[in-house]
Amino acid sequence: MQRLPCARVWAVAGLSTTLPVVTPAEPAETTSLAVPPLVGSVLVSRNGTDVVPAAGRTMDDMSTLPPTPGYSRRSHDIAPFHVMSLLARAQALEQAGHDVIHLEIGEPDFSTAEPVVRAGQAALAAGHTRYTAARGLPSLREAISGFYRCHYGLAIDPERILVTPGGSGALLLASSLLVDPGRHWLLADPGYPCNRHFLRLVEGGAQLVPVDARTAWQLTPERIASHWNDDSVGALVASPANPTGTVLSAEQLRGLSQALHGRGGHLVVDEIYHGLTYGMDAPSVLQVDDSAFVLNSFSKYFGMTGWRLGWLVAPPAAVPELEKLAQNLYISASSIAQHAALACFSDEATAIFEARREAFGKRRDFLLPALRELGFRIDVEPQGAFYLYADVSAFTDDAQAFCAHFLETEHVAFTPGLDFGFHGANHHVRLAYTQEVPRLQEAVERIARGLRSWQG
Ligand SMILES: Cc1ncc(COP(=O)(O)O)c(C=O)c1O
Repeated sequence: MQRLPCARVWAVAGLSTTLPVVTPAEPAETTSLAVPPLVGSVLVSRNGTDVVPAAGRTMDDMSTLPPTPGYSRRSHDIAPFHVMSLLARAQALEQAGHDVIHLEIGEPDFSTAEPVVRAGQAALAAGHTRYTAARGLPSLREAISGFYRCHYGLAIDPERILVTPGGSGALLLASSLLVDPGRHWLLADPGYPCNRHFLRLVEGGAQLVPVDARTAWQLTPERIASHWNDDSVGALVASPANPTGTVLSAEQLRGLSQALHGRGGHLVVDEIYHGLTYGMDAPSVLQVDDSAFVLNSFSKYFGMTGWRLGWLVAPPAAVPELEKLAQNLYISASSIAQHAALACFSDEATAIFEARREAFGKRRDFLLPALRELGFRIDVEPQGAFYLYADVSAFTDDAQAFCAHFLETEHVAFTPGLDFGFHGANHHVRLAYTQEVPRLQEAVERIARGLRSWQG
């Protein structure tokens, strides 16, 4: 196996990491939002705060428009990102000459690191512009394997690694392989919205499990026990999570793995924000469960969102099936991006990524207390990603109107909870600290002023 520079050793220490879990007085939520998949389109409001589908309706269907004749029900059922209309409005304000501070976008503000750009340019110049093997360049799969050895002390056979078009491609592969029509995965609500849409695409479904600060916004073995039913086939968790930034410890990952395997289910873990953790390293599920499916990406820590490159680590037996799916679904990931990504594992690139990680940490350390000071409740300190998920119930039970107010009056854009699910969505917002600290300072000043006009 090719030896790669191991510029920084992560996470083996993370095995003993435990999470700060707050324990408010209220009893734990035990109600299952049971989701008969694939029907219906009506939304109702529960207690004026939670947006949930009416009984017998799918969580997948957020569209209030009737299906377009001639187009599939599947397509109709997949909801748009609500933040896109906010973004469109933000862009219109910018075109009208306003200075908008963007805290709504889930993308690092840094452009791709210079060594990676150079490697991409060299790949183009050398004519590396053809399809690669469906599983990806052998050299890149070796490099990713080296990454697991360096950062987690794990020996992952490159044969188990499939290079994909983004983490999104890995999600497409995993849901296509693991979910039959009518079957579902348990997903935390709030969570990354595309997860349930991928499930809808394969005619499966999502059973959204309401989570809150008491479990650091993550699924637990208890939640799996209380929500599992005959149609459940597994669970997908993310660590660090979007939108909450919380991290699962090795112990917690082991607990989830046991809860799922004990029921004949599989565990899929989205680790695409690995590397972007502050004051700690996130353990990989592969440190405690070699049979788990792991999604990762070059988008976030490696700063390559637009290159569309990620990977999936799968148990050996699953690889031939996944390879077949990859051949048919997208043939191969971008060859140029794959050649460029080889440079991600150099000492030079790693130093850049680590400096960026430090910058993100400083931003979090500024924005978190500043928002709390203003009355935004963030009960669990997020340890990773670049998001703060704040409870704004002190100010509103209409997060969308709240976000619109700040955009219109103060030109600060952040995302309403509805983009991440239904549980408590009307009184949560997500702010991405993808701006430099002086810009965040300006944002906080504007938010403070906007709060006065909102309340006034
Ligand atoms: C939790 C999570 N998973 C997966 C993705 C997909 O990212 P990509 O396809 O760029 O790797 C995102 C993107 O924001 C995300 O937040």
